[in-house]
Amino acid sequence: MKNLRTFFMEDPLENNRFKAKFNLGESGGRPRTVQELLTLSDLSEEKIVQEFLKISLCDSPNWGRPDLREIVSRMHAGSKVENVLITTGTSEALFLLFRYLKPKSVALAIPGFQLLYELPLALESEIIPLPVRWNQNGIPTINESEWLDILKEKKPECILINNPHNPSGLVLSQEFIDKIMQISLEISATIIGDEHYRFLSHETQQLGFTIYKNSPKVFVTGSFIKCLGCPGLRIGWCVGPTEALSYMQNEKNYTTHTVNPITEWISYEVLKNFESKLFLYMKEEWLETKRILKNFLDKSQAVYGMIPNGGLVTSLGLKKNYDIKSFQYVMKTVEKNGIFVLPLAAMEVGSFSFQKEMNLNSNHGSNINQGIGFRLGLGSSPQDFKSALEALELIL
Ligand SMILES: Cc1ncc(COP(=O)(O)O)c(C=O)c1O
Repeated sequence: MKNLRTFFMEDPLENNRFKAKFNLGESGGRPRTVQELLTLSDLSEEKIVQEFLKISLCDSPNWGRPDLREIVSRMHAGSKVENVLITTGTSEALFLLFRYLKPKSVALAIPGFQLLYELPLALESEIIPLPVRWNQNGIPTINESEWLDILKEKKPECILINNPHNPSGLVLSQEFIDKIMQISLEISATIIGDEHYRFLSHETQQLGFTIYKNSPKVFVTGSFIKCLGCPGLRIGWCVGPTEALSYMQNEKNYTTHTVNPITEWISYEVLKNFESKLFLYMKEEWLETKRILKNFLDKSQAVYGMIPNGGLVTSLGLKKNYDIKSFQYVMKTVEKNGIFVLPLAAMEVGSFSFQKEMNLNSNHGSNINQGIGFRLGLGSSPQDFKSALEALELIL
């Protein structure tokens, strides 16, 4: 495996995470405390203390706590407990999975979360971009036939579907995913669904659909830690064929080995009931911040773009026609004023060949395609989010 390049978004995130007055750069929900997670999952404080103090800090089972695996399995119809491996965040699940698959080529939506193409690159896979473009109005779009043609022509060994998508907030339709699945069968490709935002992929359903099917060539990775604002919990999973998971679990023995029992206990308590107040409030807050953003975008004289269909991020552009240099200056000014948003350059937007071609053909769509824009996270309380957007408008 080759060296991994710098993880470009991490420095800006870390530099602002603990000091920005308004942190709109993250991709997850507002940070929640252990107390919030557990009391809103119907545990009394007395019970929490009792249970916590009783936890034995032994190694958890290598594949994860059986009752937790059982819950994750129930979220993926057609799977059994043996099809679930509990991991240290979705990142570890993806890391182990790519090391197992070692695909010669991977097709995925670009731009995308860096880890999703960086790992295959380090494994010397060819990356086949499935373009996501922003139109003049800042609406992220995909050309479905273009994606299907690319898949038919390039026949990637692996197709990765990040749904809902970071950083556009797009949610692919079930019908379109079915078409991709059909092609994957024809070209014998492995499918990976990165369903990190599944809990926030539908406005009314508690859990959006999954691409999971019980098949030797279908894998799903996921978690709840971004949606519920507890990324520090570091838990995730991979659902797939047992033999592959077994290989991955062996690699895990050399590194994180198991997820710690405290994390597994909290995760079990959280996941045992999707109808709990915790999930209810998460959804309500998400809908409220989406409404606030919609209102803001309808009126803003400085910013344009679309609210996310799913997940907690969207990518926005600036109405004034900045070049890269002046845009960077504006971003610095925003940051100095206590508001952090993630410049899209930190996700390499503008540097992929289809984006450069758009520029050359003066078929610009939006400047967002050239990296003149920012990723906005919706993970704040509605009050803070509203105040942050008002402050942002003033500065811009
Ligand atoms: C699309 C996507 N996949 C995977 C991850 C990794 O998540 P985790 O924190 O669970 O490792 C992220 C994190 O932001 C993400 O946005």
